[in-house]
Amino acid sequence: MSKKLLTLLTVVLSGFLFLSVGILVAADAPDEVVIENKGYAKDTKGPVKLTHKKHHADYKVACAECHHVIKDGKNVWKEGDKVQKCSACHNPEKKEGNVLKLNNAYHNNCKDCHKALEEAGKPTGPFKKCNDCHQKAS
Ligand code: HEC
Ligand code: HEC
Ligand code: HEC
Ligand code: HEC
Repeated sequence: MSKKLLTLLTVVLSGFLFLSVGILVAADAPDEVVIENKGYAKDTKGPVKLTHKKHHADYKVACAECHHVIKDGKNVWKEGDKVQKCSACHNPEKKEGNVLKLNNAYHNNCKDCHKALEEAGKPTGPFKKCNDCHQKAS
């Protein structure tokens, strides 16, 4: 292969590399998330769709209301930090110390906020009817 061609190829390839990095960054905070973890002792309910972007942009819920890294009882996670799956720390099978079992972590996060907003007389999301969040189990 000629040197010129090789240079051209390198330029084109690194262009692709930048492109794919760009795509990864854009997809960083997804518009929607379908929550469907494995590993529950009893997985009886269908997956849950979260309008991720709407919650942040339209409902004005701060990222840190849902994402956290707890150090000495305080949330030290801030926007820009990497985001881990809830299941990275919350076990689907059991509560560990005071770290909630995975489904309870979601339920407390999602339902508690919706319920508190209803009590405050504000527009809110579901917390009573299971299937307002859970799709039909397949
Ligand atoms: C505000 C939304 C919301 C509501 C309302 C809700 N859940 Fe969930 N629930 C979730 C999320 C999110 C998960 C995590 C799903 C996963 O990890 O697959 C979950 C997980 C579960 C799980 C364990 C995983 C599975 O798929 O079986 C069970 C059981 C469950 N919910 C039962 C219920 C029941 C019963 C109700 C009604 C009394 C209910 N949920 C209402 C959001 C909700
Ligand atoms: C209403 C709660 C909520 C808000 C607000 C929220 N997120 Fe999320 N986010 C989630 C949940 C739930 C997931 C899915 C994680 C899981 O199920 O393990 C998620 C997933 C993500 C992911 C993908 C992680 C992965 O590995 O799949 C990123 C990145 C992310 N959020 C960033 C953000 C940023 C940045 C903000 C603020 C601009 C934000 N989130 C606001 C709840 C929220
Ligand atoms: C890096 C580990 C880690 C990740 C990732 C994580 N958690 Fe937690 N979470 C913890 C720890 C540790 C605690 C216990 C704090 C305490 O009470 O000592 C906790 C506590 C909680 C609580 C109870 C305290 C509170 O804030 O009301 C809820 C609810 C919760 N997590 C939901 C979630 C959800 C939903 C996700 C994913 C969007 C998530 N967690 C991701 C480690 C994590
Ligand atoms: C800190 C508050 C807060 C948390 C946490 C939260 N929500 Fe919501 N949610 C809202 C508000 C506010 C609305 C509706 C506001 C409106 O209609 O103007 C809403 C609406 C919804 C709706 C109905 C409208 C839509 O966009 O789909 C669903 C379903 C929902 N939330 C699911 C979830 C799930 C699942 C979680 C947890 C992973 C969650 N929410 C966590 C505040 C919250």
